[in-house]
Amino acid sequence: MLAELETQQTEALQALEAAGDTDALEEWRISWLGTKGRLKGLMGRIKDVSPEDRKAFGKHLNALKGALEEAFAARQAGGVHDTAPLDVTEPGLGAQAGRRHVITSTIDAILEVFGRMGFTPVTGPELEDERHNFTALNIPDDHPAREPIDNFYLGDGRMLRSQTSTVQIRVLDHTPPPVRIVAAGRVYRPDTHDATHYSMFHQVEGLYVDRNVTIVDLKSTLLAFAHAFFGEEAEVRMRPSFFPFTEPSAEVDIKMKIKGTWQWVELGGCGMVDPNVLQGLGIDPEEWTGFAFGLGVERIAMRKHGIADIRWLYENDERFLRRF
Ligand code: DAH
Repeated sequence: MLAELETQQTEALQALEAAGDTDALEEWRISWLGTKGRLKGLMGRIKDVSPEDRKAFGKHLNALKGALEEAFAARQAGGVHDTAPLDVTEPGLGAQAGRRHVITSTIDAILEVFGRMGFTPVTGPELEDERHNFTALNIPDDHPAREPIDNFYLGDGRMLRSQTSTVQIRVLDHTPPPVRIVAAGRVYRPDTHDATHYSMFHQVEGLYVDRNVTIVDLKSTLLAFAHAFFGEEAEVRMRPSFFPFTEPSAEVDIKMKIKGTWQWVELGGCGMVDPNVLQGLGIDPEEWTGFAFGLGVERIAMRKHGIADIRWLYENDERFLRRF
């Protein structure tokens, strides 16, 4: 008899669970808890129970009543949605896994290539001072690169770095040569946003200082990078240029395949570390020479993936982010 009560409870709760709309819920209430309902019917059967079992039966019946009333109240409070019962044969939704941003994966891939060439990845702060961003890089006080309109100055001697070349100073300040590092990170310039300009972007900086480092090492390093990253047919071109912290200096172009055609793309700057920079850091330029380069990460990622507008990278539109 007690087992019978348990069966009834299971049946009642299953039926309650299956009640899909308000009408079904009311039907359930009438059929189980109503004045002529099944619970009442069970109570009527107490007279069939032997006198010695009656007490236990009554106790269990009360418990059953409480459980059903409570389940019903909970179901009502939770609200009933007028929906079809769950169809477990429907195909499920695919798991929504996160993924790395295309700029992050581009940086990781670049660091991996330089890592294989012996460049140790390091980082430097985005909040900098004028010594690291300009002075120690041989950029004179009256140089146009220092213009307030082209930099985010905080007004207390600090600034958001405008280039990752700051990391060259950060490293050489504390590490005696030989050093071979690569540093990727954000830089900031107050540009008006358009398809190719954004006030924050990323650079990858490389620095190699050792005995007998020559411009041939620079070119072959950049070429090895181009081959590893863009394929064996890629080419590197260095066009004479000027940067205060390198002498000689050059712009770096890489010839890469874009939508089936080979094109020269300007990726950044490079050169031999200016002796003035080394001297300023207490490193003897007669003994040590070095090369440095700085490449634009957005330019690389945009060309590689055919991204037409830099702003798309930072709008966090999922339709765009999902492409990668
Ligand atoms: N810092 C330069 C810029 O932002 C790029 C650059 C040029 C970096 C020459 C270098 C270098 O390390 O040697 O325009």
